[in-house]
Amino acid sequence: MPKITVIGAGAVGATAAQRIAEKELGDVVLTDIVEGLPQGKALDLLEAGPICGYDSRLLGTNDYKDIEGSDVVVITAGIARKPGMTREDLLKINSKIIREVSQNIARYAPDSVIITVTNPLDLMTYLTMKTTNFEPNRVFGMSGVLDSGRFAAFIAMELGCSVRDISAMVLGGHGDTMVPLPRFTTVSGVPITELMPEDTISRLVERTVNGGAEIVNLLKTGSAFYAPSAAVTNMVEAVIKNTKRILPACACLGGEYGKKDIYLGVPVKLGRSGVEEIVELKLTDGERKALDRSAQAVSSGIISLNALL
Ligand code: NAI
Ligand code: 2OP
Repeated sequence: MPKITVIGAGAVGATAAQRIAEKELGDVVLTDIVEGLPQGKALDLLEAGPICGYDSRLLGTNDYKDIEGSDVVVITAGIARKPGMTREDLLKINSKIIREVSQNIARYAPDSVIITVTNPLDLMTYLTMKTTNFEPNRVFGMSGVLDSGRFAAFIAMELGCSVRDISAMVLGGHGDTMVPLPRFTTVSGVPITELMPEDTISRLVERTVNGGAEIVNLLKTGSAFYAPSAAVTNMVEAVIKNTKRILPACACLGGEYGKKDIYLGVPVKLGRSGVEEIVELKLTDGERKALDRSAQAVSSGIISLNALL
């Protein structure tokens, strides 16, 4: 059985562990800094195995030694932005956590592929790569699968069609500057630009960009975790099963889209070694400008992050 570690046994981490176990993608190690939390959740999930019919074994631990031999490590450790907290506050707290977690991954699971989830996503993925010193293709972030999932859900509601027929594409950073791409978003192969008026598309794009905040405003005490954990699980599956699926992910660019040494959401081919290819879409001037704006926002974030280190 492959070994998949989820670091951070909170809302996203524990739900991801559940989905990974239910799909029998491998044995799951769940870790957290809080004593008892990963042990309790992992045991509960283990006891669900006979009821749901999965044979994945689950281990909860506070000891990084237990992650040895992991094929994939998912990082969800960190805090979500709370009311009154600035982006800089979040950056400070989570960058400290990501550094500690990444140092331990490099030490105990040096051959793993890492999927970072912690926010601010593009910066924390960059920091994971810099701290572990892993090849960039082995470190990528989860954002586009979630954002395009949200876009697809809103399109299905608008058109009254099945989500199964929708393929949505969202590029750029995971934040206010993300770039949903209606021309590359299709229903059974037909671009939504041929199925909906422009103002409807603009409304759905805006709802997608604000998708995370919409959930926070409803939950009040936390952020989304069902869709994020589902997105993580799809990415873990693509790596573990070496499916070569093309999914949007936060990946290190080495000249693609005219950008270098930056992590940004782009379509990638995912397989056993992580990001096996970055797919370059032919963008219009407007789409490229939007992606440039997003890259600019991530670059400024990297400058703030480097100033903290
Ligand atoms: P949560 O608060 O429920 O869970 C976070 C867990 O991390 C807690 O159990 C905490 O004890 C643990 N933790 C904190 N410091 C740690 C350390 N040094 N080592 C190990 N574990 C540590 O939060 P939730 O909802 O699970 O979100 C986790 C992160 O994922 C947040 O930063 C959130 O903003 C982000 N997120 C990102 C998404 C994306 O699309 N990339 C989507 C949803 C959440
Ligand atoms: C989301 O988009 C909070 O990044 C998180 O739901």
